[in-house]
Amino acid sequence: MYSSALHGKKVLITAGPTREAIDPVRYISNHSSGRMGYAIAESLLQQGAVVYLVSGPVCIDIKSHPNLHLIQVTTASEMYLACWRYFSTVDIAVFAAAVADYRPEKVAKQKIKKNDSSFEIKMVKNTDIAAEFGKVKMAGQLSVGFALETENELGNAVGKLNKKNFDLVIMNSMNDANAGFGYDTNKVSIINRQYIRKDFSLKSKKEVAKDIVDEISNALSNHTEQFIERSVYEYENMYR
Ligand code: CTP
Repeated sequence: MYSSALHGKKVLITAGPTREAIDPVRYISNHSSGRMGYAIAESLLQQGAVVYLVSGPVCIDIKSHPNLHLIQVTTASEMYLACWRYFSTVDIAVFAAAVADYRPEKVAKQKIKKNDSSFEIKMVKNTDIAAEFGKVKMAGQLSVGFALETENELGNAVGKLNKKNFDLVIMNSMNDANAGFGYDTNKVSIINRQYIRKDFSLKSKKEVAKDIVDEISNALSNHTEQFIERSVYEYENMYR
C-alpha cells in the first residue's frame, strides 16, 4: 500500500561514511555502516518514492528497483558535488551520512614511509553538506538530519535542527546500548520544527526506518498545508 504523501515524491538521501585519503594506501574514515540510510531508502521505495541514494563506501547490497538511483562516492567533496546534481529537483532530503568533518590538507602522491617516532597530519574542514543545502532550501522542500551524540544529546540535536535548517532531526545517543554505529538496532528520538519530541524504543534499523519515514510523511503533509496557506496569504496580500 502506498502512503499518498510519499508516492511519486523525489528524495535525496546521503548514507554511509566518507573516506579522506592520506596517501595512495591510507585514509581517514569512521565506523558508519550505512545501514540506517539504506533502510530509509528501502522504506521510502516501498512507499512509492523515487530515491537518489548518494552513498559513501559501504558493504550493503541493495536490491535494484526502478525508482532507485544509486550514486556511489568516496570523499565528502564528491558527496557534496553529487548532492548538487539532485537537490534542486527533490521534495525531500535526508542527510544520513557520517561525513568526515575534516580531510588531510595534502594527499601524499607516494606512500608515506615511517621515519620519525611521531607523525602529524594537518586537516582542513570539509563542507557541511546538510548546512549548505539548508541555506538554499526552497519553500516546500523538507530536510531531515541526524544527530549522533555522546553528551548533551537534546541540546546538540536542537542546535543542529536550527543551524542546518532541518525540518526533522533524528537524535540518537552513543550511550544507549545496542544503538547507533555498527549495530543492527537503533533507538531514536525525532524532533520537529515545533520542538515536539517523540521517543521510540530500541528496534531493528528496518523498523526505525519505517518510523522515520512515517514522521517524514506526516511532516510533509503539514508542510504542504502550511506552504499552500502561506502562498494563498501572500497571493491575497499582493492584491490588497
Ligand atoms: N552532515 C553533513 N555534512 C557534514 C557533516 C554533517 O551533511 N560535513 C550532516 C549529517 O549527515 C547529519 C548532520 O549533518 O545529518 C549532523 O551530523 P553530525 O556529524 O552529528 O554533526 P556535525 O555537524 O558534524 O557536528 P559535530 O561533529 O560537532 O557533532
